[in-house]
Amino acid sequence: MKRTKGILGFVMVACLLGGLAGCGGQAASASAAPAQPASSSPASSAAADAASSEAAAASSVPAPEDGVLVAYFSATGNTRAVAEKIAALTGGDLYEIVPAQPYTSEDLDWRNSQSRSSQEMDDPDARPEIAGSPVEMDGYGTLYLGYPIWHGQAPRILSTFVESCDLEGVRVIPFCTSGSSGIGSSADSLAEQAGGGAWLEGRRFDSGVPDSELQAWIDGLA
Ligand SMILES: Cc1cc2nc3c(=O)[nH]c(=O)nc-3n(C[C@H](O)[C@H](O)[C@H](O)COP(=O)(O)O)c2cc1C
Repeated sequence: MKRTKGILGFVMVACLLGGLAGCGGQAASASAAPAQPASSSPASSAAADAASSEAAAASSVPAPEDGVLVAYFSATGNTRAVAEKIAALTGGDLYEIVPAQPYTSEDLDWRNSQSRSSQEMDDPDARPEIAGSPVEMDGYGTLYLGYPIWHGQAPRILSTFVESCDLEGVRVIPFCTSGSSGIGSSADSLAEQAGGGAWLEGRRFDSGVPDSELQAWIDGLA
């Protein structure tokens, strides 16, 4: 009887140990089994993810030269309003050409031949300084260039701008606002001064031009 109890006890302990070993084995192999593919699976799925996100990036991120910049000068806000709409419609970046010395209302008095703006427009070589560093055109293939008409021309600060940036390989699309004058020869003069860029025909807009008119113009650009 003692011996039977001893054998039974041995068998129970052996089963118990075997069972534990089996759980442990299963647990070990359960953790080892997924660990094996896990170490290759995430790597290969990471590689696949990287490949697919690269492909997605290649198709959704525009090439650097596809960037659109909308640069403008505006003394009283009319051209700014149009520039902001063009930037919104094209998804372009906005850049304001800011004079180092701001124009006062006396400066802008076009009836006074002695005002700063009149003096500048009388002098084809005037190049009012732009505040900040010159614009960097890297990555921009299209430049919308906006300005008000002053005495039938682009303000001289536009000459400063086009002479200070490299427009080689850039499609330049001039636009302006005015009291009533058309864009006239203002854009042609700027193109000459720039000495680079593919200049498209420019266009005048009212400051309150509707989005639909701007969109039709943008869509019709070659
Ligand atoms: C100095 C000066 C000269 C101007 N000369 C003309 C002009 O020759 N023809 C015209 O139609 N408007 C002229 N204007 C009116 C501006 O072109 C017009 O108000 C423009 O929309 C202003 O744009 P901005 O608000 O972006 O500065 C002149 C305005 C100023 C301040």
